[in-house]
Amino acid sequence: MTGRSAPIITIDGPSGTGKGTLARLITAWLGWHLLDSGALYRVTAQFALARGVALDDADGIAALAAQLPVEFVEGEGDTRVLLESQDVTDLIRSEEAGARASQVAALGPVRAALLDRQHAFAQAPGLVADGRDMGTVVFPAADLKIYLTASVEERARRRYKQLNEKGMGVNLPQLLGDIAERDRRDEQRSISPLKPATDAIILDTTDSDIAAVVLHVKRLVREAGLASGATS
Ligand code: C5P
Repeated sequence: MTGRSAPIITIDGPSGTGKGTLARLITAWLGWHLLDSGALYRVTAQFALARGVALDDADGIAALAAQLPVEFVEGEGDTRVLLESQDVTDLIRSEEAGARASQVAALGPVRAALLDRQHAFAQAPGLVADGRDMGTVVFPAADLKIYLTASVEERARRRYKQLNEKGMGVNLPQLLGDIAERDRRDEQRSISPLKPATDAIILDTTDSDIAAVVLHVKRLVREAGLASGATS
């Protein structure tokens, strides 16, 4: 632990690397809290859309982000996301919602407005924080930093499978283009760009299934002395 009330593990990387699944499984294993920071950006974009605020209106969206009426409710095996008490979980998971999230995420005032809310997730017994800048900007003193990567083709294939399983019709070449475009925007923005922290452990998941990645990360968590509350 680094002088805070709760230990923190950050998991960053682009979409389709298995970050979300890994974060959920490690959180359950440790019995800690989970911050899905991408959901905050997705909900912010959704709220802007609902309120008719343009996606490039930095101050307008930051004002919405500062008082975002969002709740995360633990369901069976997943977390339901409520915006103004409406369940928007499925709505914010589409590729379009991801693209809108990445647009509002490039706006400095919006990122600043969401900082306190993200810090508030750091509570005992510990936090697993999933995102793009968890280890670099939001929790730079985290106890363990993981950065997941995978080839863009493999990430597109995974996302394609995931969206098809949810009954959301998608086209693979289009998905590949959308993911590459979102990567480009996330990596090239001037504020909090997507990049590994200098002290992050980088894991390439292109050729590994999620079970292997989870085992590897559990080992890293144990080695970091963070697994005292783990279930096995
Ligand atoms: O992780 P997820 O795909 O839900 O994130 C949606 C978008 O939100 C990302 O493409 C990125 O632009 C933005 N994001 C971010 N910083 C984070 C988490 C997400 O900029 N910590």
